Amino acid sequence: MITRLSGRLEGLVYLHGGLCEALRLYPPLALEHKAPSEADILPTGHVVDKETRIILSIYSMGRMEGLWGEDCMEFKPERWFSKGANGIGIKHEPSYKFPAFHAGPRTCLGKEMGMIQMKMVAAAIICNYHVELVEGHVVCPSDSIILQMKYGLKVRLLPIN
Ligand code: HEM
Repeated sequence: MITRLSGRLEGLVYLHGGLCEALRLYPPLALEHKAPSEADILPTGHVVDKETRIILSIYSMGRMEGLWGEDCMEFKPERWFSKGANGIGIKHEPSYKFPAFHAGPRTCLGKEMGMIQMKMVAAAIICNYHVELVEGHVVCPSDSIILQMKYGLKVRLLPIN
Protein backbone atom coordinates (compact mmCIF):
# COMPACT_ATOMS: atom_id res chain seq x y z
CA MET A 1 0.00 0.00 0.00
CA ILE A 2 2.77 2.43 1.07
CA THR A 3 4.85 1.42 -1.98
CA ARG A 4 1.89 2.03 -4.35
CA LEU A 5 1.14 5.41 -2.76
CA SER A 6 4.82 6.34 -2.78
CA GLY A 7 5.04 5.41 -6.49
CA ARG A 8 2.10 7.71 -7.32
CA LEU A 9 3.53 10.57 -5.28
CA GLU A 10 6.90 10.16 -7.09
CA GLY A 11 5.18 11.83 -10.05
CA LEU A 12 4.71 15.06 -8.07
CA VAL A 13 8.21 16.31 -8.80
CA TYR A 14 7.55 20.00 -8.15
CA LEU A 15 5.95 19.26 -4.77
CA HIS A 16 8.87 16.95 -3.95
CA GLY A 17 11.37 19.70 -4.91
CA GLY A 18 9.49 22.28 -2.82
CA LEU A 19 9.48 20.05 0.27
CA CYS A 20 13.19 19.23 -0.15
CA GLU A 21 13.96 22.94 -0.46
CA ALA A 22 12.03 23.62 2.76
CA LEU A 23 13.99 20.83 4.50
CA ARG A 24 17.28 22.12 3.06
CA LEU A 25 16.80 25.73 4.21
CA TYR A 26 14.79 25.00 7.37
CA PRO A 27 15.75 21.49 8.59
CA PRO A 28 13.54 20.53 11.58
CA LEU A 29 16.65 19.17 13.30
CA ALA A 30 19.01 22.08 12.73
CA LEU A 31 21.89 20.81 14.86
CA GLU A 32 23.09 17.26 15.32
CA HIS A 33 25.69 16.13 17.83
CA LYS A 34 27.81 13.02 17.96
CA ALA A 35 30.44 11.62 20.36
CA PRO A 36 32.86 8.73 19.71
CA SER A 37 32.59 5.65 21.93
CA GLU A 38 36.40 5.46 21.84
CA ALA A 39 39.28 7.59 20.55
CA ASP A 40 39.42 7.68 16.76
CA ILE A 41 40.89 9.56 13.79
CA LEU A 42 38.48 11.10 11.28
CA PRO A 43 39.11 10.75 7.51
CA THR A 44 40.21 14.41 7.61
CA GLY A 45 43.02 13.50 10.05
CA HIS A 46 41.34 15.13 13.04
CA VAL A 47 41.91 13.20 16.26
CA VAL A 48 38.82 12.73 18.41
CA ASP A 49 38.94 11.34 21.93
CA LYS A 50 36.12 10.10 24.15
CA GLU A 51 35.48 13.60 25.50
CA THR A 52 35.15 15.19 22.06
CA ARG A 53 31.69 16.38 21.07
CA ILE A 54 31.12 16.92 17.37
CA ILE A 55 28.38 19.38 16.44
CA LEU A 56 27.06 19.25 12.88
CA SER A 57 25.06 22.24 11.72
CA ILE A 58 22.56 20.81 9.25
CA TYR A 59 21.08 24.32 8.98
CA SER A 60 24.43 25.77 7.82
CA MET A 61 25.13 22.87 5.44
CA GLY A 62 21.89 23.64 3.61
CA ARG A 63 23.15 27.17 2.97
CA MET A 64 26.74 26.43 1.90
CA GLU A 65 27.75 27.72 -1.52
CA GLY A 66 30.35 24.93 -1.81
CA LEU A 67 27.57 22.33 -1.55
CA TRP A 68 24.62 23.99 -3.31
CA GLY A 69 26.15 26.59 -5.59
CA GLU A 70 25.90 30.38 -5.87
CA ASP A 71 22.11 30.32 -5.59
CA CYS A 72 22.24 28.38 -2.28
CA MET A 73 20.08 30.97 -0.49
CA GLU A 74 17.32 30.83 -3.10
CA PHE A 75 14.26 28.61 -2.71
CA LYS A 76 14.39 26.68 -5.99
CA PRO A 77 12.38 23.43 -6.23
CA GLU A 78 13.92 22.97 -9.70
CA ARG A 79 17.31 22.08 -8.20
CA TRP A 80 15.75 18.71 -7.31
CA PHE A 81 14.82 17.90 -10.93
CA SER A 82 16.72 15.44 -13.08
CA LYS A 83 16.18 15.38 -16.82
CA GLY A 84 15.97 11.91 -18.31
CA ALA A 85 14.69 10.19 -21.44
CA ASN A 86 11.21 9.98 -19.86
CA GLY A 87 11.03 13.67 -18.97
CA ILE A 88 11.62 15.37 -15.65
CA GLY A 89 12.22 13.14 -12.61
CA ILE A 90 13.42 13.55 -9.05
CA LYS A 91 17.11 14.15 -8.44
CA HIS A 92 18.43 12.21 -5.46
CA GLU A 93 21.10 13.96 -3.41
CA PRO A 94 23.39 11.94 -1.11
CA SER A 95 22.36 12.13 2.54
CA TYR A 96 25.87 13.30 3.52
CA LYS A 97 25.14 16.43 1.45
CA PHE A 98 21.47 16.71 2.46
CA PRO A 99 21.34 15.38 6.05
CA ALA A 100 17.83 16.64 7.01
CA PHE A 101 17.01 12.98 7.81
CA HIS A 102 20.55 12.33 9.07
CA ALA A 103 22.94 9.95 7.26
CA GLY A 104 24.61 6.57 7.67
CA PRO A 105 23.43 3.73 9.91
CA ARG A 106 21.28 6.01 12.11
CA THR A 107 19.36 7.56 9.22
CA CYS A 108 15.75 8.45 10.03
CA LEU A 109 13.64 5.30 9.82
CA GLY A 110 10.58 7.33 8.90
CA LYS A 111 12.12 9.24 5.97
CA GLU A 112 9.82 7.78 3.29
CA MET A 113 6.82 7.90 5.62
CA GLY A 114 7.57 11.54 6.49
CA MET A 115 7.83 12.53 2.80
CA ILE A 116 4.54 10.74 2.02
CA GLN A 117 2.74 12.43 4.93
CA MET A 118 4.01 15.90 3.95
CA LYS A 119 2.99 15.35 0.32
CA MET A 120 -0.50 14.16 1.31
CA VAL A 121 -1.13 17.13 3.60
CA ALA A 122 0.36 19.69 1.18
CA ALA A 123 -1.53 18.26 -1.84
CA ALA A 124 -4.84 18.21 0.08
CA ILE A 125 -4.43 21.87 1.11
CA ILE A 126 -3.10 23.16 -2.22
CA CYS A 127 -5.86 21.41 -4.23
CA ASN A 128 -8.69 22.68 -2.04
CA TYR A 129 -7.67 26.11 -0.75
CA HIS A 130 -6.06 29.38 -1.69
CA VAL A 131 -3.53 30.10 1.05
CA GLU A 132 -3.01 33.76 1.98
CA LEU A 133 -0.48 34.95 4.54
CA VAL A 134 -2.04 37.12 7.25
CA GLU A 135 -0.66 40.61 6.70
CA GLY A 136 1.80 41.80 9.32
CA HIS A 137 2.41 38.37 10.81
CA VAL A 138 6.07 38.09 11.77
CA VAL A 139 7.72 34.68 11.60
CA CYS A 140 10.45 34.08 14.15
CA PRO A 141 12.16 30.91 15.34
CA SER A 142 11.63 29.46 18.80
CA ASP A 143 14.57 28.44 20.96
CA SER A 144 14.01 24.71 20.89
CA ILE A 145 16.03 21.70 19.71
CA ILE A 146 13.58 21.35 16.85
CA LEU A 147 13.40 24.29 14.45
CA GLN A 148 9.94 25.72 14.97
CA MET A 149 8.07 28.95 14.34
CA LYS A 150 7.50 30.65 17.70
CA TYR A 151 4.13 32.14 16.74
CA GLY A 152 3.33 29.64 13.98
CA LEU A 153 2.53 30.75 10.45
CA LYS A 154 -0.73 32.64 10.33
CA VAL A 155 -2.59 32.12 7.08
CA ARG A 156 -6.13 32.50 5.78
CA LEU A 157 -7.51 29.45 3.97
CA LEU A 158 -10.07 30.30 1.26
CA PRO A 159 -11.90 27.27 -0.19
CA ILE A 160 -11.54 26.90 -3.97
CA ASN A 161 -15.11 26.95 -5.44
C1 HEM B 1 10.03 15.64 8.00
C2 HEM B 1 9.98 14.57 8.79
C3 HEM B 1 11.18 13.99 9.52
C4 HEM B 1 12.45 14.49 9.67
C5 HEM B 1 13.06 15.79 9.13
C6 HEM B 1 13.19 13.52 10.46
C7 HEM B 1 14.54 13.65 10.81
C8 HEM B 1 15.23 12.73 11.58
C9 HEM B 1 16.62 12.88 12.00
C10 HEM B 1 17.53 14.07 11.66
C11 HEM B 1 16.95 11.78 12.72
C12 HEM B 1 18.30 11.50 13.42
C13 HEM B 1 18.23 11.95 14.88
C14 HEM B 1 19.51 11.67 15.63
O1 HEM B 1 20.10 10.59 15.50
O2 HEM B 1 19.95 12.54 16.40
C15 HEM B 1 15.78 10.93 12.76
C16 HEM B 1 15.73 9.70 13.41
C17 HEM B 1 14.63 8.90 13.45
N1 HEM B 1 13.40 9.15 12.87
FE1 HEM B 1 12.90 10.76 11.79
N2 HEM B 1 12.35 12.47 10.77
C18 HEM B 1 11.13 12.71 10.21
C19 HEM B 1 10.00 11.91 10.27
C20 HEM B 1 9.93 10.67 10.88
C21 HEM B 1 8.77 9.82 10.91
C22 HEM B 1 7.43 10.14 10.23
C23 HEM B 1 9.12 8.71 11.63
C24 HEM B 1 8.33 7.49 11.96
C25 HEM B 1 7.29 7.05 11.24
C26 HEM B 1 10.51 8.88 12.05
C27 HEM B 1 11.23 7.97 12.77
C28 HEM B 1 12.56 8.09 13.16
C29 HEM B 1 13.28 7.11 13.96
C30 HEM B 1 12.73 5.80 14.52
C31 HEM B 1 14.58 7.61 14.14
C32 HEM B 1 15.76 6.97 14.93
C33 HEM B 1 16.64 6.18 13.97
C34 HEM B 1 17.87 5.60 14.70
O3 HEM B 1 18.38 6.23 15.60
O4 HEM B 1 18.31 4.50 14.31
N3 HEM B 1 10.97 10.08 11.57
N4 HEM B 1 14.76 11.52 12.06
